[in-house]
Amino acid sequence: MADRPSLADRLAAGETHPAPPEPLTIVIFGGAGDLAHRKLLPALYNLHVDALLPARIAIVGASRGEMSDAAYRAFAKDGVSQFSRRPIDEDAWSAFAEALFYVPVAIDNEQSYAALGSRLDVVEHERGIAGNRIYYLAVPPALFAPAVSNLARRRFVNRGSERPFARLIVEKPIGNDLDSARAINDAIAAVFDERQIFRIDHYLGKETVQNILVLRFANSIFEPLFNHRHVDHVQIVVAEEEGVGTRAGYYDRAGALRDMVQNHILQLLTLVAMEPPRSLDSDVIRDEKLDVLQSLRPIAGGDVDASVVRAQYAAGFDAGTPVPGYREEKGVARDSRTETFVAIKAFIDNWRWAGVPFFLRTGKRLPKRASEITVRLKEVPHILFNANSGSRLDPNVLSIRIQPDEGFALGISSKVPGPRVSIYPVRMDFHYGSTFGASSPEAYERLLLDVMVGDSTLFMRRDSVEAAWRWVMPILDRWASQTAEPIPTYAAGDWGPREAGRLIESTGRRWREP
Ligand code: BG6
Repeated sequence: MADRPSLADRLAAGETHPAPPEPLTIVIFGGAGDLAHRKLLPALYNLHVDALLPARIAIVGASRGEMSDAAYRAFAKDGVSQFSRRPIDEDAWSAFAEALFYVPVAIDNEQSYAALGSRLDVVEHERGIAGNRIYYLAVPPALFAPAVSNLARRRFVNRGSERPFARLIVEKPIGNDLDSARAINDAIAAVFDERQIFRIDHYLGKETVQNILVLRFANSIFEPLFNHRHVDHVQIVVAEEEGVGTRAGYYDRAGALRDMVQNHILQLLTLVAMEPPRSLDSDVIRDEKLDVLQSLRPIAGGDVDASVVRAQYAAGFDAGTPVPGYREEKGVARDSRTETFVAIKAFIDNWRWAGVPFFLRTGKRLPKRASEITVRLKEVPHILFNANSGSRLDPNVLSIRIQPDEGFALGISSKVPGPRVSIYPVRMDFHYGSTFGASSPEAYERLLLDVMVGDSTLFMRRDSVEAAWRWVMPILDRWASQTAEPIPTYAAGDWGPREAGRLIESTGRRWREP
């Protein structure tokens, strides 16, 4: 039998993607904005370096201000120099830069689209691109509806057509509540078929997040244990060290529940909890994920006070440096009631997870940046090594480190060498960095590539976005009705308020610090 190709050979042969994308144009509305600068242009550059872009491609930035193509290329180069995972290679850069163009567009002004259309025709003719287009809405959600309706009015979209194709990428936040999410989805659905729409949750593009399904369904040791018979509880933590930074304008109207739980954390939850899909077909996987969201026990009314903790960071320290409290941050109302921390005790009311609490926790200005999923198994019977209370054994814990220090570890009990039976917890630990090399692709690289090849597995379907909103709405409603209760605080640099500790400790468990 022939030797299997080595891992390095398989990765070098580009095993990550089956078919190269067809020639296409990407129009980035908001192309001169922050997301394009920090994430999209660096991701496209890295795809270019990996030879994963189509041979013929045009990347067209479309934003309000005037800018020449040359200035846009300089803007892109600046973004790539600062934020790309790889440094700029001048030869690779010049070839990439030739594909970059800029057109001034006022997104809510239909007239602008005439100029955009003519420019796209010229660029596509020159570059031999037959009309496949991806429209990326890297703009505030208030502009989603005007953008798609102008695209429709100016006949940019051939509804449902596969050849040439028109695809739409939208970024979160998709709405501020269930009604506004529905309104956005309706406006988009009036122009694009669902299979032409790619709603990004960038957590789904992270390597470690994709690995959750591989870990669960490509190994026979975990899946038999992932259920209420063996799992005591699950914790999902997404901790951030940074404060609100320069995004107060958006964040103060959103808060941690909308910003992190409604999307990223619930997506992580679906991957940990879903049933094995019958195939890797994107809709089969997304159906199973939806099923988890629909099985989440609603938390409403007085239950919100018992199962959900919100808090705001007060002044404190970040790595020894004093930092202001949330209400003192630039752009935040002095009497803001926006939560920068949420902890939730949730249950999934299906057969597999009956009675197993899922503790969700996220916050800004926590002690460190760390996202982790912990599956804590039940204790072994108190019969042998832990027969008396003086010899408690640590239960097995599977921890999946999403970021940083990507990897996973399994905590197990082992005998300490020597004449006595003394038991000590040890870890089997896997680190991506040491096994696969330091530089995994960024989430946006994978996601942009998937849109180019038309694979929607890692994108949020309309029904799941709305199911997630449906679950968080009663919590938001409860909070909105509590205008007088003080909001708990935590000092910047702490792991959240005391109330969060009580939430889990009242069940006899403890938060695991990542
Ligand atoms: C974004 C949120 O979706 O995710 C931000 O709006 C948050 O508030 C960010 O900081 C976290 O992303 P990552 O990839 O740095 O964990």
